[in-house]
Amino acid sequence: MSFALRRFPKTAALRRASAVPKQSTRLPSFRAYSTEGANAKPKSNNAALYGIAAAIAGGGAFYLFSGSDDASTVAKGAVQVAKAGVGFVPSKADYQKVYNRIAEIIDDAGEYDDGSYGPVLLRLAWHASGTYDKETGTGGSNYATMRFEPEALHGANNGLNLARGLMEKVKQEFSWISYGDLWTLGGVVAVQEMGGPKIPWRPGRIDGFAKDATPDGRLPDASQGSSHVRNIFYRMGFNDQEIVALVGAHALGRCHTSRSGYEGPWTFSPTTFTNDFYKLLFDETWVWKKWSGPKQLEDKKTKSLMMLPTDYVMVSDKSFKKYAKAYAEDNDLFFKDFSAAFSRLLELGVPTAQFTSSAPWEMGNADEQK
Ligand code: HEM
Repeated sequence: MSFALRRFPKTAALRRASAVPKQSTRLPSFRAYSTEGANAKPKSNNAALYGIAAAIAGGGAFYLFSGSDDASTVAKGAVQVAKAGVGFVPSKADYQKVYNRIAEIIDDAGEYDDGSYGPVLLRLAWHASGTYDKETGTGGSNYATMRFEPEALHGANNGLNLARGLMEKVKQEFSWISYGDLWTLGGVVAVQEMGGPKIPWRPGRIDGFAKDATPDGRLPDASQGSSHVRNIFYRMGFNDQEIVALVGAHALGRCHTSRSGYEGPWTFSPTTFTNDFYKLLFDETWVWKKWSGPKQLEDKKTKSLMMLPTDYVMVSDKSFKKYAKAYAEDNDLFFKDFSAAFSRLLELGVPTAQFTSSAPWEMGNADEQK
């Protein structure tokens, strides 16, 4: 094969993905984007507060929006408990158990892709959060609305049924956790367990309803240019530096023709979190791939790596390029900025009062638990 995987310590990761049967989805084989209805306004997150009140009334729990941090943590934890109908208030140690279980599942990927479910779980966390619209306060990770159609069937979410299925196993074991907390925690586990930085995270999301689902067209379209990328991420409240830092997640995983129409990995180490995405953008010569699929770039030398049109704007756009260069040259800077931006992404759409702790937590890596 033209390239070998680096650094990821698992033997499973050393298997070449080309030998791997692609996951089937019940969706069309090509990602269809829609921007229609992108400005439609589902109900505001304030509806969540009524949901909380109802949950409290139903579960007999009490809820404090202020007070000492400990009291407030317990009280807010009780909201989720009331909602799940289980008589138990989860502590940080309980969330760490969920973390550890997700870490096991990530590693137990057998022949799947590059030997890890980490990348697809990271993508689930991002797509669950990246629907946020700061003008209307709608979307984001709070309600885990990708559980509902039509959001589950949006072209951008092709293939994420696999990730949702994996998370469902965890939900069966830890029924008290909300889907939004579970999916975002999955993103944290994926980054940390694949060698990335610690991602500050805290629980507090609640399960919403189908009526809270977001319209199609809120997630980025990979065939577009820099103004589209800015429109999408500015709508979430991010700036150019944060956009470039977030897109560096494409160091991980790969594109699948059966999901997006695109094909291939961005780096030689798709299961290890590194700044290689930026390094390769600068170090390799990128040319348009000659094929019948959607326009994508390939590295001239090995033809085994890919870049999406939106990835390439990270070097063709002057403002983006400045940050991409800085991240290519300084892995620590990338880790620091990615951690801050991704942590914020995961909290989009969640009213602060809902969080069960005043400051985000640092969850331990699976190795640190041993
Ligand atoms: C301009 C912004 C972005 C665009 C257009 C974009 C587009 C895509 C596309 C087309 C795929 C391939 C899906 C497939 O065929 O399976 C993909 C995969 C992926 N994306 Fe992005 N993405 C963007 C930003 C992000 C961000 C911000 C993150 C995380 C912070 C992220 C994380 C991932 C990961 C980890 C994968 C690999 C999934 C797998 O291996 O199954 N992406 N993205």
